[in-house]
Amino acid sequence: MAIIIKNITKSFTKNDNSGQLAILNDISLEISNQEFISFVGPSGCGKSTLLRIIAGLLTPESGSVEVDGVPVKKPESDRMMVFQDYVLFPWQTVEKNIAMGLKMAGRDKEYIDRKVKWAIEMIGLQGFEKSYPHQLSGGMKQRVAIARALVMNPKILLMDEPFGALDSYTKMKLQSELVQLCAKKEFTTCLVTHDSEEAVFLSDRIVVFTGSPARIQEIISVDLPRPRDRVSKEFIAVRDHILSLTTSGMTDHI
Ligand SMILES: Nc1ncnc2c1ncn2[C@@H]1O[C@H](COP(=O)(O)OP(=O)(O)OP(=O)(O)O)[C@@H](O)[C@H]1O
Ligand SMILES: [Mg+2]
Repeated sequence: MAIIIKNITKSFTKNDNSGQLAILNDISLEISNQEFISFVGPSGCGKSTLLRIIAGLLTPESGSVEVDGVPVKKPESDRMMVFQDYVLFPWQTVEKNIAMGLKMAGRDKEYIDRKVKWAIEMIGLQGFEKSYPHQLSGGMKQRVAIARALVMNPKILLMDEPFGALDSYTKMKLQSELVQLCAKKEFTTCLVTHDSEEAVFLSDRIVVFTGSPARIQEIISVDLPRPRDRVSKEFIAVRDHILSLTTSGMTDHI
């Protein structure tokens, strides 16, 4: 197993300081090497909190996360995170943004140049090496954010709604590119998404959470061959099953 999540419990202090708000309640999950797993569930149920705990950005009250048998205590470059809002350095060019983590890790110039060139080709941004983030589209910025994570050769790629801010055409294009990247089987991916179609298109397994505090409601294995056909009967059946789980209990008051 690449990641073993054992009995994680997490709460936060309520905004009015009136006590603790339980967010995650006894979450356990095992994620295999090179697996693509997605977390879906209602807004505010604790998906990002769980991802941050895996990243080592947050500490749980009880329970543990192990990566290849080693307990997670803090962020490390073997676990890279990609956020919805890109978080690029606006004063740095594309190539400098991608090189940042490698520089901080003390890599030599020859290694950095080679890795950055590889990453730029991989994400199809040749010709934009010297561009600044404000000169790029949303999709291009997110490609840079993904490249910046991948040059670190992570064992685990953690993505929190990475395509949430993109138009549907760009989103589908990036999803297809991610399928190709993942086919190389170099890392394990945990994705948080609101988009059940995205989850079915990308994932080996989909963890459906209920809130709150978050509990695992169901884990769905998606055994369809890739690249997946979004309009096939089988694809739509899985997508609709997730939709029915995540929207159950919702009532329309129109
Ligand atoms: N640092 C914090 N301090 C206090 N409360 C927090 C903190 N971070 C998150 N929360 C609360 O924890 C709950 C879960 O938040 P989280 O961001 O994990 O949800 P989510 O499932 O990712 O939601 P969304 O789908 O809207 O992104 C929310 O009620 C949120 O207000
Ligand atoms: Mg979130």
